[in-house]
Amino acid sequence: MKLFVATHNAHKIREISQILPGFEIEADDPEGVEENAPDFSGNALIKVRAIAPRHPGSWCMADDSGLEVEALGGAPGVRSARYAGEPSDTARNNALLLANLEGVADRRANFTCAVALVDPFGREHLAIGRCFGIIALAPSGAAGFGYDPLFVPDGYGKSFAELSAEEKNSISHRGRALAEARKTIKEVG
Ligand code: IMP
Repeated sequence: MKLFVATHNAHKIREISQILPGFEIEADDPEGVEENAPDFSGNALIKVRAIAPRHPGSWCMADDSGLEVEALGGAPGVRSARYAGEPSDTARNNALLLANLEGVADRRANFTCAVALVDPFGREHLAIGRCFGIIALAPSGAAGFGYDPLFVPDGYGKSFAELSAEEKNSISHRGRALAEARKTIKEVG
């Protein structure tokens, strides 16, 4: 089954293809749309609505995700990619996160992913996935992207960046949201 994904991010297409085997996944860049919703679901809907009119009769998908830290009132949240300012810079984002948590004992955090779908009949569906954990005192691991070296999922003594792609996908916010999305696609047909 063909599935158009609203992204220009090759890493994301690879992760989605691993989690949704059997789908013919094609990227469609929702170029120019402003992701200005206050939450992940709103931004995912903005992106999927930008591409759906180009693919009538097909499934379309967009996701939006980020890191929410308890002690920072949910920051960086929807600003995760640009936490330390524009343009998006992973090293600066991670350094700022560690600086803002300096001396903070409560390091609980979660990654959240919202997946928005438009089905072949034009109806919208939402799937949300979360992964809870803590922010480490220092980065570790070289796999993955973004905040992966700093995020230690509950029950694991390792950061996301120290897990294999399969391990990460089996517990990650994106893996969980996409598993829900897959169920929706199977149900609607
Ligand atoms: P996006 O909406 O999936 O593009 O994610 C926005 C930002 O959240 C990314 O640029 C990362 O900073 C962060 N993020 C989202 N998912 C992950 C993840 O799985 N690992 C690490 N960082 C992530």
